[in-house]
Amino acid sequence: MNPNEIFTRAARIASKQLPELNPNALNAAIDEIKARTQRSAALNERAKKVLPNGSQHTLPLSNPYPFFMNKGTGSSLLDVDGNEYTDYILSGGAIILGHNDPGLIHSIQELLSNKTHFHGHFDELELDAAEQLISFFPSIEKVRFTASGSEANNAAIKIARAVTGKKKLIKFLGHYHGWGHEYLMDVEVPGSGKFVTNGIPDEYMDQTILVPPNDLEKLEDAFREHQADGGIAAIIIEPYGAESGLVPIMDGFNEAALEMAHRYGALYIMDEVVTGFRLGKGGAQQRLGVMPDLTTLGKGLMNGFPSCGAVGGKSEYMDAANVSIPYKTPYTYVAGTLSGNALSVAACKYVVSTLATSNLLETAESMAEDVVRKLNALFAAYESDFFAYNIGNILRVELTAPHAVPLTSPEALMEVVHRRQTLSSYSVLVASTGVLSRHGRDFVSCAHTLADNDRYVAGYEKLLQSFIR
Ligand SMILES: Cc1ncc(COP(=O)(O)O)c(C=O)c1O
Repeated sequence: MNPNEIFTRAARIASKQLPELNPNALNAAIDEIKARTQRSAALNERAKKVLPNGSQHTLPLSNPYPFFMNKGTGSSLLDVDGNEYTDYILSGGAIILGHNDPGLIHSIQELLSNKTHFHGHFDELELDAAEQLISFFPSIEKVRFTASGSEANNAAIKIARAVTGKKKLIKFLGHYHGWGHEYLMDVEVPGSGKFVTNGIPDEYMDQTILVPPNDLEKLEDAFREHQADGGIAAIIIEPYGAESGLVPIMDGFNEAALEMAHRYGALYIMDEVVTGFRLGKGGAQQRLGVMPDLTTLGKGLMNGFPSCGAVGGKSEYMDAANVSIPYKTPYTYVAGTLSGNALSVAACKYVVSTLATSNLLETAESMAEDVVRKLNALFAAYESDFFAYNIGNILRVELTAPHAVPLTSPEALMEVVHRRQTLSSYSVLVASTGVLSRHGRDFVSCAHTLADNDRYVAGYEKLLQSFIR
């Protein structure tokens, strides 16, 4: 689906009242779930006592409560009560090969019988993983592993500052780069500004200049405005737009923004934490034909194994990343006890070499296209405004479009909140069919099948059938 159509269709959903669930259907689905997830319910009570707000994650389904899982195989999960689900959430995109890919698990089991981590010494696997990554992404000459995607972005921003000698960062409205001080603002809902920034002093956020995506004039204004005020060290971007395509980036924007960054002496950082392994070999940058100065990676990089992140780019920039007393410039401190540990780099080596030497990514993308086709046919059959599209094997399903509500008044903000809450009720209907979907950004793994897609579509059909007509 092209960006213009996505904008138009999201605006149409945002301009209308949302379809209302039949309360009987909603209550029946909640009762159905509760009846078969009693152990999850009990564990959730325990979680409330020991985890802040009962959760460690941003992703669990909240209505009626998160499910506790016990086992993953390919596209499916088994919960602690023995229920089976088809999973399209896939650990927020971290699972790319499928849950517990047998080859990956075998290689990690072998490794763990000999080693865990040799911090302060090296393991050849670190080089193997780095070489795999470098051969996967044409813009990367050197790579530093980090503990997460957020850490990779912290490192990239520091490197850009060290290299350029400049201070400020340009971030696009709605783009998410993790939970670091300088970019955890204006996330999820473009225009929401400091809505989620409690705990971060304004001084940090003052270093970040927010610019609307797809607006080259405003981008250039930002460069001009801040030249005398520290200058712009980098632009950071989700190359296909906020949350991997929620608000799409128009054709040609990445090229033009990169050219502008270079004209003003700034670096261009592509956050490919999600897109890196989901758009084919070489990630978004290869597909767009735009080579960033620095790339950040995470999630699919290790198929769910921990300490998952990396920053890579040209040698002249990456050599600024240092871990000891500075003996040369440019220099910035980028460290981490478990960065590049044996388990993580072994997982990375396995995942990247498997994706590079197979057609698994092409297959996963054709599965994503299949499910999008089927979902859109279903929505059309029910004369619904809902729509779906895919970017590689990233799925986007738009139901309530909170991001498309123009934020022109306090009432508009309440409408956004209402649309997000409504989405969580819609979730219940889909989850009651055994389909795990976030109704926004979902994912297809290399293990998903046509039968999984049919189950996913059936989950959405139950939702459509549950509206008051
Ligand atoms: C585009 C993007 N960048 C960075 C991150 C942060 O990665 P992590 O959660 O591993 O810190 C995320 C996480 O969702 C992401 O979607």
